[in-house]
Amino acid sequence: MISIKQINEKDIDLCYELDSKTISLWSKKQWANEFKKEGTKIFGLLIKNIVIGICVFQVVLDEAQINYFVVNQKFRKKGFGSYLMNFLIKKCKKLNLKKLLLEVSQSNLTAERFYRRFDFFTVGIRKNYYKDGSNALLKEKKIWTK
Ligand SMILES: CC(C)(COP(=O)(O)OP(=O)(O)OC[C@H]1O[C@@H](n2cnc3c(N)ncnc32)[C@H](O)[C@@H]1OP(=O)(O)O)[C@@H](O)C(=O)NCCC(=O)NCCS
Repeated sequence: MISIKQINEKDIDLCYELDSKTISLWSKKQWANEFKKEGTKIFGLLIKNIVIGICVFQVVLDEAQINYFVVNQKFRKKGFGSYLMNFLIKKCKKLNLKKLLLEVSQSNLTAERFYRRFDFFTVGIRKNYYKDGSNALLKEKKIWTK
């Protein structure tokens, strides 16, 4: 059974563990900072109470940003990422937000394809943004409430 629940700071280890097993983006300290950021909610995607995906969602004025989005390797290409993204899009509509934004490496072709499916369009580029020298693409999706 799939479910989505908000993750609290006391479950920070779940986030750190999944991150370490996947894209290793943040240290425990950086995760702790995410929990403290204003407007930020961290959602876990669960199958039978096991967290298989995580996203960090931050509302800033009338926009939201996805600061982290990952599905456990073993569960990819099965529609779980789409399930989580559809949840975030619904949330934006409920909150009457205008845009959903994110940053992704230009070299991450899987994510590029994934986001394109949800009508995210590139609106800017940050050259040599990541440690490996790749560019960051700034992407946005317009949220239509009607
Ligand atoms: C990007 C990511 C979240 C997608 O999650 P997922 O659960 O595999 O996605 P879905 O199964 O819902 O796939 C939806 C669509 O995305 C695209 N897609 C997903 N994985 C793909 C792959 N390996 N190759 C090509 N397209 C892919 C396809 O269009 C797919 O639709 P299809 O299955 O009908 O072809 C997952 O690959 C991931 O966690 N990657 C590592 C972290 C990351 O890159 N995060 C984003 C940047 S922060």
